Amino acid sequence: MLTVAAHRTGWTLRAVVSAHVVAIAGQPVFAGAYLTGDFDSLRSHAVGADVVTSIGYLQVIVAIVVWLRLRQVWPFVATMAVVAAETVQYFAGLDGALWLHIPLGVMTVVAVVVLFIAVWRQPLLRRVREARDA
Ligand code: HEM
Repeated sequence: MLTVAAHRTGWTLRAVVSAHVVAIAGQPVFAGAYLTGDFDSLRSHAVGADVVTSIGYLQVIVAIVVWLRLRQVWPFVATMAVVAAETVQYFAGLDGALWLHIPLGVMTVVAVVVLFIAVWRQPLLRRVREARDA
């Protein structure tokens, strides 16, 4: 029973992080289109910002469940760092503080890509199996 729930939790984290990476990858594309003169793309970038941050907050909840069920804290720590950066990013974008928004945006995209690779590479169920086998 624990293994089925744990398995589902691990896959839920992977699904949410995958949606997160897709959503955040669109942001520099919309920003680039806007900066080259397609002003409607700023609207897409603003909608993208709401989608990215919403997925980020959902990921916090899933990461807490992973922490409790799979006894793995690193997805929660990494998610909190990403969500903090995205929150600063959101307000820097609204303020037009591009000196901060563009470099932090690049770093945030890289961080989510690294997290995506990590959640797909890590065997999330290992600790549960070890605990069960002990
Ligand atoms: C490499 C990634 C990114 C780049 C290059 C970028 C670039 C930009 C640019 C050029 C603007 C227009 C600013 C202005 O006209 O003053 C902007 C606005 C904005 N950005 Fe980003 N951005 C990136 C990622 C993100 C992310 C990840 C978020 C959300 C977490 C975000 C949220 C916003 C918001 C809320 C605005 C204001 C939109 C509005 O005025 O309606 N951006 N961004």
